[in-house]
Amino acid sequence: MNFKKEINRRNTNSIKWDLMAVEGKPEGTIPMWVADMDFESPKEVKKALKRVISHNVYGYSFAPDSYYNAVTGWFKRRYDFEFAKEQIVTTPGVVTAVGVAVRAFTEPGDAVLIQRPVYYPFSMMIEQNGRRIVNNPLINVEGRYVMDIEDFERKIAENNVKLFILCNPHNPVGRVWTKEELEPVANICEKYGVTVVSDEIHCDFVLDGKKHLPFVCVTENAKNFTVTCTAPSKTFNLAGLQTSNIVIFNRDLRQAFADEIERMSIGMLSPMGIAACTAAYEHGEKWLKGLKKTIEGNRDYMKAYIEEHIPELSMCDLEGTYLAWVDMSGLAMTNDELKEFMVKKVKIWVDDGDMFGPEGENFARFNLACPQTTVERACKQLEEAVLAKMR
Ligand SMILES: Cc1ncc(COP(=O)(O)O)c(C=O)c1O
Repeated sequence: MNFKKEINRRNTNSIKWDLMAVEGKPEGTIPMWVADMDFESPKEVKKALKRVISHNVYGYSFAPDSYYNAVTGWFKRRYDFEFAKEQIVTTPGVVTAVGVAVRAFTEPGDAVLIQRPVYYPFSMMIEQNGRRIVNNPLINVEGRYVMDIEDFERKIAENNVKLFILCNPHNPVGRVWTKEELEPVANICEKYGVTVVSDEIHCDFVLDGKKHLPFVCVTENAKNFTVTCTAPSKTFNLAGLQTSNIVIFNRDLRQAFADEIERMSIGMLSPMGIAACTAAYEHGEKWLKGLKKTIEGNRDYMKAYIEEHIPELSMCDLEGTYLAWVDMSGLAMTNDELKEFMVKKVKIWVDDGDMFGPEGENFARFNLACPQTTVERACKQLEEAVLAKMR
């Protein structure tokens, strides 16, 4: 467990690191964009994968009971979220699951609601499958985003919304939705017959000792209309192993979802994914504790640094995820100028805010899942570029 070590990830086919050359990013650029971590996974994951590799046979595989016990045990222990093996459908990823849900629960032309600025593949899955985006924009209240619940209900009623894709914790704005916020959402969805896909991939990154509340546990009836997307991929840096667990209590929804998976034959996991997921959920708790401390430290460092040294910028409250959402509008640049400034002057590869919807213009998302020394370097580069530009 070493969250201080800077790991050389170059020449490993890492999209975060090795696409820098392909995309022509300047020498010395710090990659803080896509959401994977510059940390090694827990050593138990390595041990489990070594067992698979030493056998050196990688045939078609199925997930045994020990896999399902590890998954269900994790969520029961940590979040009082109880479900059975039979209520899990596996997919290669959460984005895949969102796409499958869009296809399974709506028809072409149907309205699907999202809350921008939000993780951009939601929009892609809706539009690329011929459905219609209805946006219920979040409201930025001095760096802490909230939902506009009146607009939420109005948009659902006016557009005959069939599906709502919730992001909890929310990427990129870093909110962890409270029971008080989620209850009316659940009640409105029940009232209008809206199915909810709750993307909870960041649930293990609820910070500051707080506890994640699965949407499905918010009201008595939420079980009937909720699809909960989980995965060990963010938590343990396993995204490349393509293993996700989608929990669906309602039998009809689960069948429709599973049928869609079957039509495309994408339900099978790899022997590596099975081994890694099992080991991570069985043994990764202590490791995760150390990781979260590091993320909190990075967040506090960056927030304080910006407040003290770069007052033109402002970092939103980061309650969950490891992604800092920074308001850059104080630099008084156009959105295009800001993008060029980040690439050519600051030399940090961020996710530009407008990827998450027009509401994200003049924002940037920084990935803080890296050693603190990287965050320190990034803050310095940011400060120097802003100084050269502004003062
Ligand atoms: C909210 C959210 N959902 C899903 C994903 C990706 O999930 P997967 O790699 O399992 O498709 C990410 C990755 O950044 C994410 O932030």
